[in-house]
Amino acid sequence: METLNNKYKVLFVCLGNICRSPAAHAIFEHYVREAGLQDRIKADSAGTYGGHAGEQPDRRMRTAALYRGFAVTHISRKVKAMDFLDCDLIVAMDDQNYEDLMHLAPSVEATHKIVRMADYLTTHKISYIPDPYYMGAEGFSHVLDLLEEACQNLLESLK
Ligand code: 4NP
Repeated sequence: METLNNKYKVLFVCLGNICRSPAAHAIFEHYVREAGLQDRIKADSAGTYGGHAGEQPDRRMRTAALYRGFAVTHISRKVKAMDFLDCDLIVAMDDQNYEDLMHLAPSVEATHKIVRMADYLTTHKISYIPDPYYMGAEGFSHVLDLLEEACQNLLESLK
């Protein structure tokens, strides 16, 4: 794990930054604290679409995550150019997020920071984190299953 400005910074990115990425942010932060690595690793999240900027996370995601012990409290914001300089790892939830981030990246070096969340899945055979926005409670629960596993493996990969 290389660190720049003390902490290794991980940015989780989805479309709206109200469902998947703020949940990933909260879950990852929870595991980082559990591992006592909060002084070494910092988490953040953002969306490629700014239409929900300033909003709380989706209530359905807050409820589903809290049921598992994760408080999802991040206020939505759009990805900004500085993120590509500030962050060490930028984690895209799905292929569209990945492509959008690759286009937004200001340099070739910055593109090397972009990875897919699903690359950290081991037991679940799916190549992306599905958007639960138009799904029912089962969709949110499935997304949380995926995020918990991916966050654990991501943290292991950084240790
Ligand atoms: P997220 O979910 O990308 O996981 O935050 C979505 C939230 C809002 C919209 C789409 C996806 N939307 O189109 O407003």
